[in-house]
Amino acid sequence: MCGIVGYLGPLNPKDVIMQGLKKLEYRGYDSAGLAIIQDGHTKLIRAMGKLQALDDKIKNESWTGHIGIGHTRWATHGVPSERNAHPHKARGITLVHNGIIENYHEIKERLLAKGAHIASDTDSELVAHLIAEEYEKVKDLKSAVERVLPQLTGAFSIVVLCEQSPNELIAFKDGPPLVVGLGKGENFVASDVQALIKYTNEFIYLNDREIVKLEPSKVQLFSSHGVAIERKSVTLNWSAELTEKQGFAHFMLKEIHEQPRTVAAAVNSHLVENSVRLDRVGFNDQNYFENRETLDVEKDWQNTQKVLQGVERVFIIACGTSFYAGNVAKYFLEKIAKIPVEIDIASEFRYRDPVIPKNTLVMTISQSGETADTLAAIRLAKEKGALTLSLCNVKNSSIDRIADGHLYMNAGPEIGVASTKAFTATLAILNVFALGFGKIRKSLPVKEEQELVASLRALPSKMEVVLSYDKYFQAAAKTLKDFKGFLFMGRGTSYPIAMEGALKLKELAYFHAEGYAAGEMKHGPIALIDERMAIVMVAPRDHYFEKTVSNIEEVRARGGYIISLGSGDDQALKRISKQYLPIPVSDWMTNPILFVVPLQLMAYHLSSELGYDVDQPRNLAKSVTVE
Ligand code: M6R
Repeated sequence: MCGIVGYLGPLNPKDVIMQGLKKLEYRGYDSAGLAIIQDGHTKLIRAMGKLQALDDKIKNESWTGHIGIGHTRWATHGVPSERNAHPHKARGITLVHNGIIENYHEIKERLLAKGAHIASDTDSELVAHLIAEEYEKVKDLKSAVERVLPQLTGAFSIVVLCEQSPNELIAFKDGPPLVVGLGKGENFVASDVQALIKYTNEFIYLNDREIVKLEPSKVQLFSSHGVAIERKSVTLNWSAELTEKQGFAHFMLKEIHEQPRTVAAAVNSHLVENSVRLDRVGFNDQNYFENRETLDVEKDWQNTQKVLQGVERVFIIACGTSFYAGNVAKYFLEKIAKIPVEIDIASEFRYRDPVIPKNTLVMTISQSGETADTLAAIRLAKEKGALTLSLCNVKNSSIDRIADGHLYMNAGPEIGVASTKAFTATLAILNVFALGFGKIRKSLPVKEEQELVASLRALPSKMEVVLSYDKYFQAAAKTLKDFKGFLFMGRGTSYPIAMEGALKLKELAYFHAEGYAAGEMKHGPIALIDERMAIVMVAPRDHYFEKTVSNIEEVRARGGYIISLGSGDDQALKRISKQYLPIPVSDWMTNPILFVVPLQLMAYHLSSELGYDVDQPRNLAKSVTVE
């Protein structure tokens, strides 16, 4: 989704903005622009396409000034074009915007009736006109923004620059994320801390319906009615280095290779010798965000046990890859914690008027913590009285801040739009969550807990082994180019892994691929099978194995091309598959983490072989902050 960067201070705003926007490229965009106040005038330049196109346009210009805003646009209202790119200017007011103004038709008619000259098809430009009107009346930028807010409906964030008042930026958030970066004699605002970690590690996160006024040496926070708000800043320890490619051809490849480390980081703090401690969850702790780093872990574990003892069922809600992780968790929780689990796509849950019985835990999964549908779903769950738990990667994100309890993937920044390391970190923490819950519900024998913890500890080195087979996955990917379509199949936890494999291939290589429960094959997809159809079977040696082998035989009989992934040197699978990819032997709960890695790598290689943009596949955005 759109990316915003604003800066005021002694550095050249053009450099800070362009570098910040570069870090936000992962969010997905189709055009970009920037505006800087220079010698009392707003210099505004925009370009269609990648940031390189904007860079080409601005590189021979002279850039001075000390205040500016920039934007990468992901089109919602109005086609991708230079005219619709941000920033938008109306008289002395220039703004960048992320989100949607729902009543824009009505505003546009009103403005046109008054003779306004509207230059774009966007909802964003209209807001600039409204602020310019109010500014002419009150001659104060914050008051002008405040007066416009009641006229707007929707979910949106804006950052506003004013020619007549060149020492301040005013930002407002209601929905899409905005964070303020604090510096010495300089301040920043952006959609994501990743744009700013090169300059500062001190941040203030804006909550919905808050206004911030930034000056070079001062930052003030207000409610949308202008009432001052006090908020402590948060120090983050993500280094700028973590957001670089570090020698890999793509962020995605780097992130795939980081997985042994990120999986370990996700679980290690919850493993105490050979047992699990589901701590640092902070259920119902009002001061959680201030005290998170210094929490008494033993006390918190006691609290988690007390809170979860009363839970009788679990709902898991998420979108995309996070939804598939939730599907795997259903198998974990039902078997280990013997608790009923329902799983839902957030965009369905939020509009369905779901029935949430008493004593339900609603768990959301979201890498970004900003996905609009998941955010709305957790809000709804809270309204309906559920206990909520967020599992996300980005600490302090909107979903994290709303939830009653908090778990983290701890995967570090994920830049590649296609999720990889966040998915495996999620599965790892879901292992821990199921084991912890099983202990609380006394459904997990100590011996089984010890074995599963040992297996979690062994997981990073097994992942290293999978990664070391990359040349085989690359070779397998090369053979896939000419098939007309792909069916990914598996049973049990391998079913959501098959869906995730198909999603990766769609997202990255733009092939039509479907993920299916292998047992469903006879109910329809079998009609697709012929020699031009490739079938990827996820077939670990678990208790579904024999059934999966029968499915492979059925595919073989119809001439389908079979690539199977199995546990170790599986002769039976080798015999019946065109290609066999061995995965180190593991237990049923860690298998999904190992088996997804080759699927990520095959999609990656196919995409780069075809010359596609691996890190920013077409039409996709990293964090889907609008519906
Ligand atoms: O940030 P979230 O985990 O909430 O994002 C959910 C989906 O948008 C995301 O997983 C999407 O499907 C990715 N493109 C998957 O690679």
